[in-house]
Amino acid sequence: MIASVREHHQRAQEKLSQKGAFVDVIKDVADRERMEAYSNNFFDYFPGNFNKLDGVIYAVGHCPPNGFPEAVKYPLSQLPLERYLNEINMHQVGVLNVFQCMLKNLKDGGCFVFISSAITRLKGQFPPFLQAHHYASAISAKDWLVEGMRHDPITTRRRIKVHRLAPVAVDSPFFDGSPRPPEIIPISTVVDEIVLALESEEIVDKQIT
Ligand SMILES: NC(=O)c1ccc[n+]([C@@H]2O[C@H](COP(=O)([O-])OP(=O)(O)OC[C@H]3O[C@@H](n4cnc5c(N)ncnc54)[C@H](OP(=O)(O)O)[C@@H]3O)[C@@H](O)[C@H]2O)c1
Repeated sequence: MIASVREHHQRAQEKLSQKGAFVDVIKDVADRERMEAYSNNFFDYFPGNFNKLDGVIYAVGHCPPNGFPEAVKYPLSQLPLERYLNEINMHQVGVLNVFQCMLKNLKDGGCFVFISSAITRLKGQFPPFLQAHHYASAISAKDWLVEGMRHDPITTRRRIKVHRLAPVAVDSPFFDGSPRPPEIIPISTVVDEIVLALESEEIVDKQIT
């Protein structure tokens, strides 16, 4: 397993290394030039160990240090544009960059796994405290990119599966001290579903509850 993690997440890097993963540093999935350089030289970091990947898992997001209240504090009328652009970078530009750049590093019959969110299905049911429509809109667009990838002539010819997993809220310190979402699942449930998707011969498109 190769885990690409941002440099400042030292603890995650250590834990992943302890689990036997090769860990490398990724800077910004939204930066096309960097992503191209990263993907072109990908196997140079791991000489002799890999030459094609079975799967690529995309789990880019941003849980701000001050947790959920900080993430959802702005209604759309007051949302700083910078925040919206960041959502677009994480959930759309980065998704397209990783898909286009990493395709060559996947073996035929391999897969992508994109982590989406159950929030895209909450239309009309948002609790009053949840000012997260900017996030939901960026994630919904990610879902459409996934749909497009499934119909792409190169992925279909190469039998590459594009999976989408959409968890409800995941239990973490992110939700400490905030209104609890109605349903919270452990991270292990998401991990189990990712493993099942990686092993699946069929396209997986699933809400994780
Ligand atoms: N947490 C939940 O309850 C929940 C529920 C449903 C769905 N999801 C989905 O799960 C996915 C992952 O979210 P998460 O909760 O695991 O977030 P997370 O704990 O903040 O982890 C996401 C990682 O992505 C990194 N990242 C952000 N922007 C990046 C960029 N431009 N280039 C490279 N790396 C970048 C973050 O680094 P920094 O810390 O440096 O920003 C962080 O290490 C997202 O798609 C999210 O929508 C999460």
